[in-house]
Amino acid sequence: MSNISLRRLRQNSHIRELTREVRLHAEQFVQPLFVAEGIEQREAVPGLNGVYRETSESLITQIEADIENGITKFLLFGVPANRARSDFDFSYTAAQIAAVKARFGDDVWLAVDVCLCSCTEHGHCGVLNDTGDHVDNRLSVDELAEEALSYARAGADCVAPSDMMDGRIGAIREALDSNGFERTVLMSYSAKFHSAFYGPFRLAADSAPGKGANKLEDRASYQIDPARPDDAYLSSLRDADEGADILMVKPGLPYLDVLADLSRQIATPWAVYHTSGECAGIELLAREELTNARRANLESWTAFVRAGASIIISYNARFAKAWLEDAS
Ligand code: PBG
Ligand code: ZN
Repeated sequence: MSNISLRRLRQNSHIRELTREVRLHAEQFVQPLFVAEGIEQREAVPGLNGVYRETSESLITQIEADIENGITKFLLFGVPANRARSDFDFSYTAAQIAAVKARFGDDVWLAVDVCLCSCTEHGHCGVLNDTGDHVDNRLSVDELAEEALSYARAGADCVAPSDMMDGRIGAIREALDSNGFERTVLMSYSAKFHSAFYGPFRLAADSAPGKGANKLEDRASYQIDPARPDDAYLSSLRDADEGADILMVKPGLPYLDVLADLSRQIATPWAVYHTSGECAGIELLAREELTNARRANLESWTAFVRAGASIIISYNARFAKAWLEDAS
């Protein structure tokens, strides 16, 4: 190795472009969207750049603008006004899906998050038992399967369960297939960790756990412990086995090792969720002029592809095309 100059291939942008092993494409991005019932005007989500809780009307306008900017794949989070303990009503989010598909049809690919934390009084991702100290798996899975089916009926191209209950992928696949939705794609948040990087999201989705009289204050009893990569492996293997088409690691940067390992071991497409806390961290640095937001996002996304992701879900997805075209 002694005579090798590694700097020769770093000396100008031409040779750097030619020798890159990893490339980002605008095509691989998914933009999250929030739509909330009962607000008069759209509301900015704290910490994120250009992300809003949309009204039904502003949701359509935002998607029009996004298509203009070269983004056509979306992950929708519906935030209904009415909250319950069980027997949820999924019609608000279903109606938003139907409206988006009526307006844009197959010009957009619409994935929809399936979870209960924006529907429950207490903000947990499932139904609590009578004593309020545990999320009941079976009751939760029944509701989730119904939710996924109602979104598929409304026209969702993909349903994406983020709850982390056991057996929900199999139950959802079965509900879809037995009702004629064999073609609806199932993307599992299979390696979703119990993370401190979800803050702005919980404001946007009004889904912080621990509200009301329940005794469970966090999601540690259903999301994966950060120190348990084996759990992420088993959870992903199981979800693939139960019929998930796409698997996911979430958050992104703190779990790059998990993404790199699992994407090599399990041959499904891998998505990565560049979470609200990660994106907001970059925004804060940029606001203090301690980084450049474009460069910090592109660097994070390059790391995701390097680690094996083909799909990148990021709050800044709508800037990807412009940022990638702006060579600097
Ligand atoms: C809730 C859900 C969360 C996210 C997606 N779905 C937060 C949580 O589990 O508390 C995180 C998204 C983000 O932070 O960007 N099921
Ligand atoms: Zn949830």
